[in-house]
Amino acid sequence: MIEKINELLRQVEEFTPKTAAEVEEYRIKILGKKGELNALMEQFKSVAPEQKRELGQLINRLKQTATERINTLRQQMQDAAAEQHSAIDDMTRPGSAEQLGSRHPISLVKNEIIEVFSRLGYTVADGPEIEDDFHVFSALNFPPEHPARDMQDTFFVEKNPDILLRTHTSSIQVRTMEHQKPPIRVICPGRVFRNEAISYRAHCIFHQLEGLYIDEGVSFADLKQSLLYFAKEIFGEQTAIRMRPSYFPFTEPSAEVDVSCNLCGGKGCPVCKGTGWLEIMGCGMVDPNVLRANNIDPEKYSGFAFGMGIERIAMLKYGVKDLRLYFENDVRFLHQFDTAL
Ligand code: DAH
Repeated sequence: MIEKINELLRQVEEFTPKTAAEVEEYRIKILGKKGELNALMEQFKSVAPEQKRELGQLINRLKQTATERINTLRQQMQDAAAEQHSAIDDMTRPGSAEQLGSRHPISLVKNEIIEVFSRLGYTVADGPEIEDDFHVFSALNFPPEHPARDMQDTFFVEKNPDILLRTHTSSIQVRTMEHQKPPIRVICPGRVFRNEAISYRAHCIFHQLEGLYIDEGVSFADLKQSLLYFAKEIFGEQTAIRMRPSYFPFTEPSAEVDVSCNLCGGKGCPVCKGTGWLEIMGCGMVDPNVLRANNIDPEKYSGFAFGMGIERIAMLKYGVKDLRLYFENDVRFLHQFDTAL
C-alpha cells in the first residue's frame, strides 16, 4: 500500500496536462468518488492498527498534494485562456503595423513606358538573357569585326559557337521577327549585361527598353511623332525632342534622340551641361539587311526601331544623380517611391 501511495505521489508531481479537460479527467481519477484516494481509504479500514498512523499521514499527504496541484493547473489554464481571449477581444489594443513594400523605381518607370506605348498599339515581347551571337549581333547587321563583339563589352558564356549575355534588348527584335509576320508593333523591356566598370553613370547590369514597328509604308516621320508623344507623356507636355544623326549597324538612317532638359526648361543648367538637351535613346529606320536576315521583304515592308536605358529615363525623371542607388536596395531610397505613380 505504501508503494502504491508513493507511486501516485510521483505521478501527481509529474502530471503536465495540455488542456483543462485533461486536468478534470485527472481530478476524477484521483479525487473522484470512485477515484484512487477513496479506494485507498477503503483499504485503510482493514489495515493493522500499528500501521494506521504512518499510512494515514501518507494518504493525507497524497490528498493535499493532488488537490493543490490540480488547483494550480486549473488556474494556469484559466489564465492562459483569458489572455488569449483578451488579445482578440480588446479592439483598443494597438495593432502591429505591417511594413508595406513599394515598387522599385525601375519597375515604375518601365511600367509607365509600357503603358504609354500600349496606347499606341504596342504589345510587350520577351526574350532570353542568355543569347547566341546570331540574335545579339549577326542578325542585327553587326560586321564580324565590330568592337561591340569584343571581350571588352560582352560577357561570354561559351566561345565557338558563341553563347553570351545579351548586351542590348535589340536581340528581342530578332526573336520577334522570327515568329511574327508584319505588321509588328512590340515593346521589349529587359535586363542587359555589359562588361563595364561600375560608376555613378554605368553598371554591368542594367535595363533597356526596345521598340519595333514594321508595316507597309512606315516612315521616319512616324518614328519622330511616336517618340515626341512618348517624351511628352513621360517628361511633361512642354517637352521638346531633337534628333541628331548617328550610327547603329541595325538602322539606316540612325539618330540619337534628346529631350529638352526638364530642370532648366532648355535654358542650360549643370544637369544638361549647359546645352538644354538630354540624350535619352537611339533609334532609326530598320536596316533592309536586318529585315532580309529575318525573312521580311524590304521591298514591301519598312519599319523603325528605338532603344533606351530605363535607368537613364528614371534618373532624369526623378532627378537621381547616381545610378548605383538603383541596385543597392537601400530602403531609405526605395521608400521615396512609395506613392509614385
Ligand atoms: N541597342 C542600342 C544600344 O544598346 C540602342 C538602340 C539604338 C536600339 C537604336 C535601337 C535603335 O533599336 O534603333 O545602345
